[in-house]
Amino acid sequence: MNAPLTRAFDVEAVRTQFAILGRSVNERPLVYLDNAASAQKPEAVIEAMAAQLRGAYANVHRGLHTLANETTEAFEAARSTVAAFINAPSSDSIIFTKGGTQAINIVAAGLEVQSGDEIVLSVMEHHSNIVPWHFLRERKGAALKWLDIDDDGGIDLAALDALIGPKTKLVAITHMSNVLGANTPAAEITRIAHAKGVKVLFDGCQAVVHGQVDVQAIDADFYAFTGHKLYGPTGIGVLYGKRDLLAAMPPFEGGGEMIDIVERERVTYNEPPHRFEAGTPPIIEAIGLNAAIDWLKSQDRAAIEVHEAALRDRAMSALREFNWVKLHGAAADKGAIVAFSMEGAHPHDVAQILDRQGVAIRAGHHCAQPLMQRLGVTATARASFACYNRLDEVDALVEALYKARKLLS
Ligand code: ALA
Repeated sequence: MNAPLTRAFDVEAVRTQFAILGRSVNERPLVYLDNAASAQKPEAVIEAMAAQLRGAYANVHRGLHTLANETTEAFEAARSTVAAFINAPSSDSIIFTKGGTQAINIVAAGLEVQSGDEIVLSVMEHHSNIVPWHFLRERKGAALKWLDIDDDGGIDLAALDALIGPKTKLVAITHMSNVLGANTPAAEITRIAHAKGVKVLFDGCQAVVHGQVDVQAIDADFYAFTGHKLYGPTGIGVLYGKRDLLAAMPPFEGGGEMIDIVERERVTYNEPPHRFEAGTPPIIEAIGLNAAIDWLKSQDRAAIEVHEAALRDRAMSALREFNWVKLHGAAADKGAIVAFSMEGAHPHDVAQILDRQGVAIRAGHHCAQPLMQRLGVTATARASFACYNRLDEVDALVEALYKARKLLS
């Protein structure tokens, strides 16, 4: 996904659309480098949500009155926008969830698994793409098969091939590590799995932000992502699934709108996507996600990729100059996420000292404990970039780290 460094990008024009970036923290200008945890929202998203609430709010799919119709139209338009955004063949294959985590849980709950069946996953998965499979291990006797990585987050496709056997039910793998930033070769992964009749689910929570995802080109069976990292609101996520696979899956939750007929002794279910959207869905959040995608599409995404690569490369080269900093993950194909450890300092202390200087990063296990074990650490610090970050914010990070080193050593 890394694009060549050829285009100019007007970061200041983008920043004017994010009022929060103008605030200060601890009397220092905010330098927000925790975007992999959650991105800030442009005015277009905030305004779209507020305008819908102010001007045309009602429940969806239930009412016959004008407000209900207008809100339903806006909600279903969001579904079409999401489908186009990831090149899904139809909006019926887009399920709105409350986040990426719920999207993966829907697949785990719907998968037919017998004792001894296997789920293949990599050691760099986020807990949201681990714990649902542990449920299947605990509750149904499934076995988890772990695909190792190299130190940069690269995977060995021959090793993946060897792990997929007659008992494999699914390969569940990230499209971009939330810690190492490494992209996985999605099309090759599906090719290998499909050759053995095995389906693939991608956790696309990070990948969808930093590059253009085409679920048909990579032949994903399931693709999960969340709205709040994509400049949209919290409380909204997406599960894409191939139509025949979704149609064969049982519902996840029971309630209104996911049914066809409900009698005293019998219930039948609606078709996807509604089968998986029990109860009142996240209406305003879906409309906010629509606005976020429209906003992102109105930007030059290729230029954003170049800009984010420049941020990442500047951070990595600066940190390499410090012999007391260890970088984790230098894959050739890598998003704008830079994890590191500082010799003799706990990442939590580093993050707190940086915060005093206005620099927001994440520190901890990043909800990826098996990866921490693989890297031989308990935690790391992580700077993660968004399209609105400036090159001089990388310098602020580096300067703040230098001060942290002096304070902690
Ligand atoms: N998944 C989010 C992160 O990586 C919360 O920080």
